[in-house]
Amino acid sequence: MIWVLLGPPGAGKGTQAALLAEAGSLAHLSTGELLREHLRARTPLGEQARRHMESGGLVPDEVVIAMVRERLSNGRGFVLDGFPRTVAQAEALDAIAAEAPYAIELAVGRDEVIRRLTGRRVCTAAGHVYHLDSHPPRQEGRCDVDGSLLQIREDDNEATARRRLEVYDEKTAPVIAYYEGAGRLVRIDGEGSATEVRDRLARVVRDVGVIEGG
Ligand code: AP5
Repeated sequence: MIWVLLGPPGAGKGTQAALLAEAGSLAHLSTGELLREHLRARTPLGEQARRHMESGGLVPDEVVIAMVRERLSNGRGFVLDGFPRTVAQAEALDAIAAEAPYAIELAVGRDEVIRRLTGRRVCTAAGHVYHLDSHPPRQEGRCDVDGSLLQIREDDNEATARRRLEVYDEKTAPVIAYYEGAGRLVRIDGEGSATEVRDRLARVVRDVGVIEGG
C-alpha cells in the first residue's frame, strides 16, 4: 500500500509521515529530503534542483518522477511526503504503483503554517526536524540525535515560504482534486499537537485498511 500525505508547506507532512512509517513498518519517502541530500552532496541532480528549491518553485517533474520511480521499485509499503505535487506526478505515480495509492490531506490554516515554518530548525548533518515552541531540542541549537548544529532551512525565510504557498495553491491543490475525484482522499484536521494529528491519521489508516481489505 502507498499512502500519500498532502498539505501545504509546514502542514506537518514530514512529522506525520515519520510517525506513520514507524507505526506501520512502512518506508518513509520524502522527495524534499532526498533533494536536500543531493544539495548537501553537491551532486549534478542537486545543482540542477538548487535554484528551483531556493526560489520556492518546483523541481521539474521528470527529475522528481525518475527519483521516485527508482525508490519505489523495491516493492515495500510506503508513506510519501512531498510527492506527488503536480497532477502529472500523481498520474505517473498511479502508473508506477502496483496498487492505487491513497491520499490523506492535512488541513492547516495559513497563520499556523507560517508559525510552523518560521519556528522550524533542522540539523545540518541529516535534516532532523525541530520547532522552537512545539518541539524544541534538549540542548539549544543542537540536534538531539547526532549533536550537530541546528539551522534555519534555506527556504523557510518568510518571502520564500509565501512563494511556496502560492506554488502550492497553483500546482498542488489540483492534486487534491485529482485524488478526491478518484475517491481516494480523506481530509483530516492537521491542527493541534503532533500526537493529536497522529491519532487522527491512525484512525483513517485503520478505516481505509478495513475497507480495502473488505
Ligand atoms: P519539502 O521538503 O517537501 O517541503 P514542503 O512541502 O514545503 O514541506 P515542509 O518540509 O516545509 O513541511 P512539512 O509539511 O513536512 O512540515 P514538518 O513536518 O517539517 O520540499 C522542499 C522543496 O523541494 C520544494 O519547495 C520543491 O522545490 C522541492 N520539491 C520537493 N518535492 C518535490 C516534488 N515532488 N516536485 C517538485 N519539487 C519538489 O513541520 C513543520 C514544522 O512544524 C516543524 O518545525 C515541526 O516540528 C512543526 N510541527 C509539525 N507538526 C506540528 C504540530 N502538530 N503542532 C505544532 N508544530 C508542528
